[in-house]
Amino acid sequence: MNVEASRTATSTIVDRVSEAWPEHVGFIEKSLAGRADPVLDVSEQLSAAILKLAPSIDNGLDALVNDYRFLCEDIVLPEEIHFRRNGQYRLSSFAEANRECYANGPFMDRYMNGLLLSDVLWSNHAHAFSYFVNDYLPRLEEGARHLEIGPGHGLFLYFAAATGRLSRIAAWDVSPTSIAKTRHALSLLGVDHPVDLTLQDLFAAEAPGADERFDSIVMSEILEHLESPVAALRAAARWLEPGGLLWVNVPANSPAPDHIFLFESLDHAEQIVREAGLEVVEAKAFPMSGTTLERAVKHKLSISCSVLARNPD
Ligand SMILES: C[S@@+](CC[C@H](N)C(=O)[O-])C[C@H]1O[C@@H](n2cnc3c(N)ncnc32)[C@H](O)[C@@H]1O
Repeated sequence: MNVEASRTATSTIVDRVSEAWPEHVGFIEKSLAGRADPVLDVSEQLSAAILKLAPSIDNGLDALVNDYRFLCEDIVLPEEIHFRRNGQYRLSSFAEANRECYANGPFMDRYMNGLLLSDVLWSNHAHAFSYFVNDYLPRLEEGARHLEIGPGHGLFLYFAAATGRLSRIAAWDVSPTSIAKTRHALSLLGVDHPVDLTLQDLFAAEAPGADERFDSIVMSEILEHLESPVAALRAAARWLEPGGLLWVNVPANSPAPDHIFLFESLDHAEQIVREAGLEVVEAKAFPMSGTTLERAVKHKLSISCSVLARNPD
């Protein structure tokens, strides 16, 4: 497939997925169509990072491609069918999601690998990733202290570390597999800044001491995994300095086995952020591949909703 010649890492991934899964080519073409240069540039940087990680995985890039197909066909599609039939997600409790997903190491491994490729191949994920890299990270001041909750595959954290401007970098995740994957990714990608990676449920974190707060917190694709996103945001906001920034990214109308809270729109996501006592600085909606935002809203198709919020002074 013709991704611009200069974008060689993206082409390598796209070509490998297309060879292994020819029926998916039309989807990828739609997904890449109309991506602006800054978005393609971030996809290329992300693809280059993925290609660096691939050799350390058994069966390399082929395994990642397999896991991406597993994500689309075996993880998301059955949930999508359930959602279309019932208008709600299949699971509604954290305990169920924990049992089916977070505590299942081999499943989480494949899920996070698939998600990694989706950040290049799904238009909504690629745009949200680009918004994070091109718009959120440049707002962080030199020496900012940064926490990511739920890093999963670890690549958001990698791009944050790569700014070279953070004085403290930390991440919490409830899944041992996610913590191990993040540690592995940061080490292979050459992050030499110390990073505190902790197996930590957000809700179980004790109140922070006065000098333990952060200037920046990132929660990407995590609030939809929790029974009460407002409670989760309040718990996170305790760790945010007054005036600190929070980048929240949630998918609306986007079923998955570990999605238990249904966000219905960008407005809904903004409302939840405000209910938690945070100010919305900016909010963006990115529709799934091959559709417009209007059509996605009308037909309840998946939309990535990114909300840039601020802890009031
Ligand atoms: C779908 S992944 C998102 C990965 C990455 N942030 C992204 O946007 O691609 C969700 C992550 O949140 C973690 N998670 C879920 N509930 C959590 C909780 N209560 N506390 C901390 N991490 C949690 C999961 O283990 C998983 O690694």
